[in-house]
Amino acid sequence: MNHTPVEGFSKMSKEGKIEWLVNEYLNGSEQAIQTLKQYWNEDLELQRLHDEFSENTLSNFYMPFGFAPNFLIDGELMCIPMAIEESSVVAAASKAAKFWIDRGGFKTQVLSKVKLGHVHFMFEGDKEKLDRFFLETLLAKLFKDTDPITKNMQARGGGILNLKLVDKTSEIENYYQIHAEFDTVDSMGANFINSCLEQFAQTLKREVYESDVFTNEEKESLQIVMCILSNFTPECIVRAEVSCKVEDLAEGNVSSEEFIEKFTRAVRIAEVEPYRATTHNKGIMNGVDAVVIATGNDFRAVEACAHAYASKDGRYSSLTHCEVKEGVFRFWLDLPIALGTVGGLTSLHPLVKLALQVLGSPNAEKLMGIVAVAGLAQNFAALRSLVTTGIQQGHMKMHLMNILNQLEATDEERAYFVNYFKDKTVSHHAVIDEFCRLRGVNSVEELKKN
Ligand code: MEV
Repeated sequence: MNHTPVEGFSKMSKEGKIEWLVNEYLNGSEQAIQTLKQYWNEDLELQRLHDEFSENTLSNFYMPFGFAPNFLIDGELMCIPMAIEESSVVAAASKAAKFWIDRGGFKTQVLSKVKLGHVHFMFEGDKEKLDRFFLETLLAKLFKDTDPITKNMQARGGGILNLKLVDKTSEIENYYQIHAEFDTVDSMGANFINSCLEQFAQTLKREVYESDVFTNEEKESLQIVMCILSNFTPECIVRAEVSCKVEDLAEGNVSSEEFIEKFTRAVRIAEVEPYRATTHNKGIMNGVDAVVIATGNDFRAVEACAHAYASKDGRYSSLTHCEVKEGVFRFWLDLPIALGTVGGLTSLHPLVKLALQVLGSPNAEKLMGIVAVAGLAQNFAALRSLVTTGIQQGHMKMHLMNILNQLEATDEERAYFVNYFKDKTVSHHAVIDEFCRLRGVNSVEELKKN
């Protein structure tokens, strides 16, 4: 089907946008209009708040908002909010939390908290002159000109930590950077960092133009390419770990030695094998993203950074590691993660506010630890299942409800199926067969007709 471009979509009313969308892409379906509208909130103020988070909002997109209790983190008992659609994640987190609560719980440590940004620019001229100019003239001006922007941040204990000129000309001809390091305290700090960087660019241009150390050609060669924070923050890093005596890992009929051997082998494989590392880290991010979203932070930034960090040694590798030393098993995650607990969605979205409240209104450092714990717990739970029972047993039990929802099962039928699969392996096929038997039909097609 051919579609026509639309003019001024963002300026249309919400109803107008829906009408256009449904006519253009959904065959004018009344049902589609209903589907969009059924998620509107009756509370108009609340709906307006959500509409204004983004542009062209037509409805609200629900996501399960769950809680994983019993997390002992640095001696404090916490209940972790998680926004995630994948059915087994919250259950796995809760299971791992319960496992470690009796074994000393989780420990966290913020290793460093530096955020980064760059002015990328081109300069065709004498490198040494530029170097000297940067140190002797420009540096002080860069700090001074950003004073009005950094004042509040400084009052909160943060600001610009360090500025460097970086010569990148061996990679791209005439390419340099002002590499800037920041402490944004409890805010994610994106606007603050980008504002500082744009001011640096203006100051750089002005100072080069006004100086008498550069030739006219050199002055004219200066071009600002872009000013932007970097989502790769290898120096904004938190460690979450668990440890216990080797013998405390025994469970059921699996001895601690057997468990450690299998578990360690799985971690080693993820350390050396990118195919496995990607899935291994995806499992970590199941936990990380769920808390990042629930607390109103930017999960795309967190994802990008985690995967860049996982490749920092030239090969994509595991973010978690483990060891056994002097009879103690230790399992840890080093996660580079830039988070905020003030600003952005944190003070606007009612559920984000609630999530932060449940976590005891943490500062950014504490939240970094909590998020890393969620990632480590998730990885522990996944590896534990993978090397013992396999993952499908637990996954399919959780997936059962999704299948039953697709089949539009009644409450009685759901209860029946939970009981039915107590001692059986759930598979899509097995659910359908039993469902058809229960309803007295031969196939799903027949079910749909009834
Ligand atoms: C599924 O979302 C995540 C896992 O695949 C992670 C893993 O394999 O480690 C279970």
